[in-house]
Formats: sequence, C-alpha cells, structure tokens
Amino acid sequence: MRYAAITDRLAGLGGAKWAVHARARAMKAAGRPVIELTIGEPDVATPPELMAAASAAMLAGRTGYSNGQGEPALLVALAARYSARRGREILPAQVMCFPGTQTTLYAVLMGLVGAGDEVLLGDPMYATYEGLIAATGARMVPVPLLANAGFRIRAEDIAERITPATRVIMLNSPHNPTGAVLTRDDFAAIGALAKAHDLWILCDEVYEDLVFDGVAFASPLDLPNLADRVIVASSISKSHAAPGFRSGWCVGPAAFIERLLPLSETMLFGNQPFIADMTAQAIAEGSPVAAGMVERFARRAGLVHGVLDGVAGVRVHRPDAGMFALVDVGAVTADGEAFALALLEQAGVAVMPGASFGEALRSWLRLSLTQPDDVIEVACGRIAEFAKGYKP
Ligand SMILES: Cc1ncc(COP(=O)(O)O)c(C=O)c1O
Repeated sequence: MRYAAITDRLAGLGGAKWAVHARARAMKAAGRPVIELTIGEPDVATPPELMAAASAAMLAGRTGYSNGQGEPALLVALAARYSARRGREILPAQVMCFPGTQTTLYAVLMGLVGAGDEVLLGDPMYATYEGLIAATGARMVPVPLLANAGFRIRAEDIAERITPATRVIMLNSPHNPTGAVLTRDDFAAIGALAKAHDLWILCDEVYEDLVFDGVAFASPLDLPNLADRVIVASSISKSHAAPGFRSGWCVGPAAFIERLLPLSETMLFGNQPFIADMTAQAIAEGSPVAAGMVERFARRAGLVHGVLDGVAGVRVHRPDAGMFALVDVGAVTADGEAFALALLEQAGVAVMPGASFGEALRSWLRLSLTQPDDVIEVACGRIAEFAKGYKP
C-alpha cells in the first residue's frame, strides 16, 4: 500500500527516541527493579481542587461541543494572566486553546511553514520538535547551543543561519533538556534579527512556572516592538501537574489567531468545556504545586551535581529551571546512548541518552529530577560507579 509522505518524514522521529525508556518499562513489567529517571512528569498529583472543578463542570453539563478558539471564560482568564505577567494588554482575541502545548505547537507550525521553508531551532532540543517541523514539510536548521554559553541560544549563531527560506525562529525557554532560561536581552537581540528578516518567533514556555530561585523568567511577549511576530505556547501540564488533562494554548497577534481558526476547527472541532472550566480556575488562582516542584527540582539538581560532578571526568550541567539535569559522560565515552543502555541493563538505572535531544548531546545523558531525593542519590551513586568501570 502507499502512504503519504508525512509518514516517511516522521519515521524514526517518534518512539525511537524513547527506546531506553521503553526498555526500562519492559524490564519493570518483567519484575526487574529499575530506577526510572527518563521522562519528566510532575512529582505531585494534580491538585484535588482542580479535579473537583473538572468533575463539577462535567456534572453540571459542561460536556457539549465547544468552539474552535476556546471557551470564552478561559480566553478571558488567559488574557488577564498574560496581561498581568507581560505588563501590557493581551486580548482574548489573541489566545487560542488546544489540547496541550504539543498540539499547540503542531497547529502553530502548520499555520506558519510548509515545504521549502526553514525553521531555526536550538540543538539540543525537546525530543518532539524535530517531528513537529518535519510534519509541516519544512526543514529544521539546527543552531548549536553551547555548554560554555550556558546552552542559551546566541543571536549571532542564529544570524549565521538565516537564509531567504527562513520563516521561524523556534525557541524554548525555560529549555528542555538543558534548563537554560533566556533573558530579556537575549530576546531583544533575537527580536532584532526577526524584525530585520521578517521572521516569526515561536517560543515554548511550558516550564515558565518552574524557574529556580534567583533566576528571572523573560518572554518575547515582554517586548512590545515584537508584538506582531511573537507567538508563545504553554499549558497546565507542568505548572499544575496536570499533563493528562491535555490543556494548552497559544498567545499571539489577533490576526494570526484569526488565520489559525479554520485549522483548529479542522483538527479538533473544539475543546472540552469541562477541562476549559478547570483550566480557567487553574489560571485565575495560580499554581498550588509549582513552588514545591521548583524547590525540590533545584535541590535534586544540587544532589546530582554533588554526587556525580568530577567522578571519572563526568560533568554535570546545573539547570536554571525545569525538571532535568544534564550529565556529560564524554570523558568516558563519546556514545551516551550505548552508555545509557548498558547502565540500564547492568545497574538498573534508566536515563535518557542526550542524543534523543539532538546531535550536540551525543556524549550526554539527561536525568529527570522527578524521583525522591534518596532515589536520585542512589541512582547517581550507581551511575558514578558504572562510569568508573565503563569500557565502551
Ligand atoms: C519543552 C516541552 N514542550 C512541550 C511539552 C509537552 O507539553 P504538553 O503536555 O503541554 O503538551 C513538553 C513535555 O515534556 C516539553 O518538555
């Protein structure tokens, strides 16, 4: 049988990156003890008051069809939140709701690029980004993120890669997997390029509420002179420990939202009103769980650093935000993926190979900080021992 070209473009970009995680789950299912530091799910339950809000809304009959942009009360709540946080008026007409950041990014990119276009994107990157861009038919142009620049994307590295085909600079701040947080100055410099070359800036801000103490969050939406070319995407998945609710959105120019509406209607035929009600409450009240996650993830990043950094030449990059720490095993092996697989089989610790997030991290590992402190310490102790004896 014949298939559409999109299936070829996405082949190998889905599950293949999660092979270590899948193997860990299979080992666990077979009864073998495994410490899982692979995926980054919040380490707390969804706040009970939000689950109560969703079920009360369901019981109150909020189970009918919605519309393509989002439930009005949620659009108002999001506009109020972004106006307050970004210090300028954001209107409900500038917001569109989707089932999670992932779907949001998919729809937004579908609305911005297609075959023949180029999207500039920092490498390393979140594991699904390559597929998002490939799905549109556009070409991903990686911009190396340098460890010695704190993995913050540099405007000069972007500038070098702009061509007449470039349409979008895709950013992620706070960044997964590096935990880097871009500054207002970073956005000003990148914004100047976007203006000079008439490009969109798309920024995934799903970790906005997980920025560690002493680090300032900034958004390209903070800069009024970029208002006509910035789109940000986010959700309640991380901030409110509610990934299963699949509730996200984008904020951008009203003209873009209007243009995107038929795409959203075609894809989704509307959102779920009871989830919209719960999300509106979550947004209006702020997160009761984000501060605790920030405190724990920052502390555990310190634990990883304390146990692993310097052992057998291993280096730990300390994040400024998010749920992950990056570990460079380059002094032991250039092949982080083989190291991760052997670590799982021989030491029962599952970590993500850096290569799942781009070529730049081939000799790195990503450790999720969502396990309890004592588990993280045991896992890092095993990684340290394993690194000392590892023969590639
Ligand atoms: C950078 C980044 N963007 C998007 C997502 C997906 O978020 P959502 O659950 O809102 O679709 C994740 C999940 O891990 C992520 O790390």
